[in-house]
Amino acid sequence: MISRRDFALTALAPLAAPLGLHAQTKALQARIKIDSDRRIGDIDPKIYGNFAEHLGRCIEGGLFEEGSPLSNKQGYREDVMKAVKDLDVTLMRWPGGNFSSNYNWKDGIGPRDQRPARLEMAWGTVESNRFGTHEFLDYVEALGIEPYVCANLGTGSWSEAQQWVEYCNVADGTAMTKLRKQNGRDKPWNVKYWGLGNEMDGPWQMGHRTAEDYGKFALEAAKLMKWTDASVKLIAAGSSNFREGSDWVGWNREVLAYLKDHIEYLSLHMYVGNTANDYYDFMAVSNQLDDRIKTAAGIIRAALGGLRPANPIHIAFDEYNVWYRARGNTQRGRKILEEHYNLEDALVIASMLNTFVNNADTVKIANMAQIVNVIAPIFTNEKGLFLQTIFHPLQLFSKNTRGAALQTYMECPTYESKHFGKTTYLDVSTSLNSGVMTMNVVNRHLDQDVEAEIEVQNGTFKGKFEVALVTGPDIKAGNDFGKTTVNTATSSITPNGNKLRHRFPPHSYTMLKGSFA
Ligand code: AHR
Repeated sequence: MISRRDFALTALAPLAAPLGLHAQTKALQARIKIDSDRRIGDIDPKIYGNFAEHLGRCIEGGLFEEGSPLSNKQGYREDVMKAVKDLDVTLMRWPGGNFSSNYNWKDGIGPRDQRPARLEMAWGTVESNRFGTHEFLDYVEALGIEPYVCANLGTGSWSEAQQWVEYCNVADGTAMTKLRKQNGRDKPWNVKYWGLGNEMDGPWQMGHRTAEDYGKFALEAAKLMKWTDASVKLIAAGSSNFREGSDWVGWNREVLAYLKDHIEYLSLHMYVGNTANDYYDFMAVSNQLDDRIKTAAGIIRAALGGLRPANPIHIAFDEYNVWYRARGNTQRGRKILEEHYNLEDALVIASMLNTFVNNADTVKIANMAQIVNVIAPIFTNEKGLFLQTIFHPLQLFSKNTRGAALQTYMECPTYESKHFGKTTYLDVSTSLNSGVMTMNVVNRHLDQDVEAEIEVQNGTFKGKFEVALVTGPDIKAGNDFGKTTVNTATSSITPNGNKLRHRFPPHSYTMLKGSFA
């Protein structure tokens, strides 16, 4: 996005009004211009991915609950399947996360009742292994979602990773394929996306290594996996450890030095939170996300040295979300990481998605972590589910923001955030798909409307524009069982030639969608 950040019409004092007070004063003014010829890149649908880890109640008690009246005969919760489908999830990562770093996939195949229960050390439980490779791949197949399997490069071996690819992707003629057939699956699933471990830069990871040791180890795994199936796309574990003192740039540089000829993606992770309860600072955190993406893209570029334009390495942001309340050392056992989201979290998610779209040329995979119960947009109990606030922006983006990402020129009032610099009150991304434009706008202002004049420079708007608004009575409003306070409300507006005026309410996310030619 081209943003004239120095165009500060009014640097209003943040938090001048008490939280939740919608004093309807004169709207702030902004100007947005787009031109369909000015493109950032193609939006990869895989940026609307999600993640299912053997963690807490994400799988057991979330998407899989054997014996529940809400489950089908395979044990999949049907209400959850419907919600996942409504979310238009494009890609699903599994089995972890930290869990994957001590997971032996062979424990999770064969007759369910004969599978071994294992001590699960990432999250302090016992893993029943009743949900394994078949259960996961059949699940995503039923929902039309692309699978992404993360191999164990923590305690696992090269052969385990290689044989997993063989089990899933080779048609027949080997011991592994015979085993798959015996276990009830004749045809291979052809899993295309494979992770070379998870967060290997984190001391919390089982099998954590230095960048050099990880690079060497992952290289041998990558060779075997690609020699098993040359069509697989590999994702190397880039940075997840941004703690003070960690050299996250150096980690990526070293990993790429070993793996650049063997991978298609470098993964990054980022979790954000409002620990200080500073709304305006929290709302600016996507500036940091943007900075990390651009820095990583630069490291990749430097590693490739301009030598491989036809065979690039893209960024897989394969874990991102708001996560700060339900975390820490006490988070061990079954009912853990169950964040209860509010409106400000949903707005931050919309801004994170804007950032992925505005970096559509480099970010080609993104996975919200995670899908059900565990830091998730869908929340269940044994009787049903409710949709968390963060469900709504993710759904609107996934269903509507496809095609090409356009550059968005914006003049907008700004404020100074505590940690993330000067920030525009509006945060915007634009896409164009077969003549249909979608603009995603977050109004970060706590209590003032921002009115924008949106102009298309090389055409005219046609017909009515759909408006989908996600907001709520105050920034701390959330949803619960039987209570939907934050939802999507729809309406429409009429453009005028090549101009469209819209007043974006305070603390809101709006999607505008319509045609131009
Ligand atoms: O998503 C929760 C955890 O966060 C994942 O297991 C891990 O990869 C990350 O640290």
